[in-house]
Amino acid sequence: MIYPIYIYGSSILRKECKEIDATYPELGKLIEDMFATMYASEGVGLAAPQIGKDIRLFVVDGTPFEDVDPTAKDFKKVFINPEIYEESEEEVLMNEGCLSVPGIHEDVYRPESIRINYLDENFEEHDEELTGWPARIVQHEYDHLDGFVFTDRLSTIRKTLLRNKLGAMAKGKYSCAYRAKQK
Ligand code: NI
Repeated sequence: MIYPIYIYGSSILRKECKEIDATYPELGKLIEDMFATMYASEGVGLAAPQIGKDIRLFVVDGTPFEDVDPTAKDFKKVFINPEIYEESEEEVLMNEGCLSVPGIHEDVYRPESIRINYLDENFEEHDEELTGWPARIVQHEYDHLDGFVFTDRLSTIRKTLLRNKLGAMAKGKYSCAYRAKQK
């Protein structure tokens, strides 16, 4: 099933999401549907709140970046209850977009590398250091679980310049090639 994507202005995108355990109903099907939804909208990451669920789960597939970033090779994963517990002091500027913020792409500063622990789809624990595009995608998706979107991370001046556009988007003025909703 392809889910509609919740767009900027939707209250679900501002919620602090809750951890889940292995008893979460039909989790396998949900993960499968999240990948399908992400691919249908040509995204490289999708967090549960973007499809209306306030749980700490996101999926990523960074393999489109393989050619420019070898660390993105085979970077297709499920993250459940992730915790970023270390960030590099070094920050880098990379261009981001978001399926929930259609039509806006901006350069965002974030730590270059992170250490994260998380559970995979089988509830097995992992502890990894990520850098390059994988670190970037994961930090963007992780933000969604805490109610943030990437435009919150922009400089005051960039935010001011985007204020009208984001305000209009929150009121339903947006267009995208995938199924979307707002509430
Ligand atoms: Ni996003």
